[in-house]
Amino acid sequence: MMKIHEEASRCLLCVDGACSRACPKGFDPSRLVRAVRFENDKCAGLYADKEVCAKCSGDCEKACIHYDRPIRIKEIIEQTEKAVKHDKKDLSIEFLGVKCENPFFLSSSVVASGYDMCAKAFDMGWAGVVYKTIGFLKPEEVSPRFDAIGKEGTPFVGFKNLEQISDHGLEENLEVFRRLKKNYPNKVIVSSIMGQSTAEWTELARLSEEAGADIIECNFSCPHMTGHGLGSDVGQNPDLVAEYTAAVKKGTKLPVLAKMTPNIGNMEIPAMAAVKAGADGIAAINTIKSVIGFDVENMQPLMPVDGKNSVSGYSGKAVKPIALRFINDLVKCDKLKGVPISGMGGIETWKDAADFILLGCGNIQITTAVMQYGYRIIDDLIEGLSDYMYRKGIDKLEDMVGSAASMMVSPDTLNRKTTVYPVFDKKKCVGCGRCAVSCYDGGHQALTMKDGAPVLNKNCVGCLLCKLVCPVGAIGISKRMDRR
Ligand SMILES: Cc1cc2nc3c(=O)[nH]c(=O)nc-3n(C[C@H](O)[C@H](O)[C@H](O)COP(=O)(O)O)c2cc1C
Repeated sequence: MMKIHEEASRCLLCVDGACSRACPKGFDPSRLVRAVRFENDKCAGLYADKEVCAKCSGDCEKACIHYDRPIRIKEIIEQTEKAVKHDKKDLSIEFLGVKCENPFFLSSSVVASGYDMCAKAFDMGWAGVVYKTIGFLKPEEVSPRFDAIGKEGTPFVGFKNLEQISDHGLEENLEVFRRLKKNYPNKVIVSSIMGQSTAEWTELARLSEEAGADIIECNFSCPHMTGHGLGSDVGQNPDLVAEYTAAVKKGTKLPVLAKMTPNIGNMEIPAMAAVKAGADGIAAINTIKSVIGFDVENMQPLMPVDGKNSVSGYSGKAVKPIALRFINDLVKCDKLKGVPISGMGGIETWKDAADFILLGCGNIQITTAVMQYGYRIIDDLIEGLSDYMYRKGIDKLEDMVGSAASMMVSPDTLNRKTTVYPVFDKKKCVGCGRCAVSCYDGGHQALTMKDGAPVLNKNCVGCLLCKLVCPVGAIGISKRMDRR
């Protein structure tokens, strides 16, 4: 059977989808496929009626402009659950004492770097923006400055950028804050700042407050600044973090977030320094130092700038587990107990966001997914999270914050006495043998193929590599039991 997520991931996510325009019943198949693409399957059914669609000859598919073959929209609709209509849950949450209509903010970057961009994002439902880092420094940027790593048909698993802070003038950016605050008084403006001296940090905080910002975020974490003693050079040095945080607090009464670098072993150390110096919360993570690779035929780095390149920041879906690990470390640190955390790094869907919230983040920030798909991802972030809260009977978002943190424990306390084993679904198995290949070459030689089907032997240790590599989902998990 076709896998709907795989099929939805082929969708070009067209603006004003031809499929929706072609629907004779006025349904919105392009929105439905987008909901599936962004893991909001449970609400996808709101955008078409599967019984009606079953009788249709498929005008949507005929109109599809896919360059290879049309998306199998009818089959996606057929496999979509009937959606339960319910009122949207209240996603509002107070963060650092500031009321936010939902937890979703644009993170500081190119996606929040001008009035029209932020206004559009607000109109579409984003609760706040962390504006592109401002400073007295006006950087010169390179071209090109982005690249991405894909895998097996997914074009954008990890993303690399070489962009520094805002290349607009400071006064121009402050004027954007003033206009945004005037026209969007209930949205949240976070001023991300970067000074080159304590005096500059203080002054930037003062100017930001004066221009209407609600929160200050200190950029202690950009990994590819051209000047020394800036960005992640600060974040790696707890003394500098403390000095600059104190300087910021001197310039403002607004709540202050210290944005941490992941280019360090223990993030708790600079985070504690920031909090001790007066920071009200921690934001994490900024991008990870990376080298994306080489164009081996032409013997030059990928994304070449005149044939050369540099170590620079990596973000997007690929970094999410690393970001979550740092959030976990912050949450588990006794000296940081109760310190509010704004989480980011690879968030694309409401489920990604839920991971950060369940671990302890009261605020969510996103850049790379917005660069790839646009502000419209907010539709499924809000709808999916609201639907989850409805299904789980969660009334207030703040009740969700940190509610699963206690399930992350140290490895020495995990149950090592019992095992789960793979369970094979003969009807789903297509006999490709991938499970046996991986089990032999990367596992414990517990699987052999007999008459086109996998057979398990007593070597199995229950690692479940086989389940992970099965391309058709034919392998399930047994009950936990004593080791065989
Ligand atoms: C193109 C680009 C520009 C960025 N610029 C900034 C910046 O000016 N200030 C900052 O604090 N972080 C900056 N970041 C980091 C993001 O705010 C965010 O911390 C990081 O990308 C992880 O989130 P993501 O995976 O959702 O992109 C930038 C990231 C990208 C991709």
